[in-house]
Amino acid sequence: MTEIALVTGANKGLGHEIARQLAERGMRVYLGARDESRGREAAAAITAGDVRFLPLDVTDRESVAAAVRLVDAESGRLDVLVNNAGIAGEVGTEVLDITAEQLRATYEVNVLGVVTVTSAFVPLLRKSANGRIVNMSSRLGSLTALSEPDSRHRKRGALAYSSSKAALNVLTLLYAEALRADGIQVNAATPGRVPTDINAATPWRGDRTAADGAITPIHLATLPPGTMTGAFRGPGIDESPGW
Ligand SMILES: NC(=O)c1ccc[n+]([C@@H]2O[C@H](COP(=O)([O-])OP(=O)(O)OC[C@H]3O[C@@H](n4cnc5c(N)ncnc54)[C@H](OP(=O)(O)O)[C@@H]3O)[C@@H](O)[C@H]2O)c1
Repeated sequence: MTEIALVTGANKGLGHEIARQLAERGMRVYLGARDESRGREAAAAITAGDVRFLPLDVTDRESVAAAVRLVDAESGRLDVLVNNAGIAGEVGTEVLDITAEQLRATYEVNVLGVVTVTSAFVPLLRKSANGRIVNMSSRLGSLTALSEPDSRHRKRGALAYSSSKAALNVLTLLYAEALRADGIQVNAATPGRVPTDINAATPWRGDRTAADGAITPIHLATLPPGTMTGAFRGPGIDESPGW
């Protein structure tokens, strides 16, 4: 049976690569994008498999509700949800100058967007025999990495982004617990540092390719039933065992 996947923020960057690789593996992939022309173009650029543009702004409840209706009407269930959409928030601002407004804008996408999308799609994930949720996190959200002596992550002072990804890691753990009885595995991935638009304005872009960055999310998106839930995986991360 063809598996059904949805990747949010998939018109470019890592989301696009994850969508491409899931399609190559034979899944029907809903390529979520908030802009229609960028989304259609990105879906058309993936020639392998069954890729369908899905209009989806994760900060807009109506847009999310419409996306659920469309996936339900066409596919009747969802097997894989990759919460990939994310923004950098403040860049180049001193920690003490970062405002609550800047945090709020970042949390709207990186945290509240994940809550809106996840809770809206849970009924369709419950119809899967092997539901999986992958949350795209970052080492910048790891309390372990941030707590290391002389942590370079702490010194970056990415107050909004780091704290949004730390919150996402907590969401991952609590959703994993809440969805355990449904057999839905919920895990967080970091891709490592990949030069995409999200870090274009920073000096720490890294040199991994999009394909490198997709390795962990693809692994977690393709877990067999009952493998692992509540884990945070990826380069430089080994902090929650999954259980
Ligand atoms: N690149 C890295 O080194 C790195 C490292 C750690 C974690 N990550 C995480 O990986 C994920 C993907 O990032 P990326 O590197 O691929 O960045 P990217 O190229 O900037 O892609 C971000 C995607 O999110 C979308 N997006 C932003 N706001 C949205 C909204 N309100 N609704 C729907 N989509 C929205 C963007 O759409 P638009 O084109 O419309 O803006 C874009 O498709 C993010 O969660 C990021 O935090 C990346």
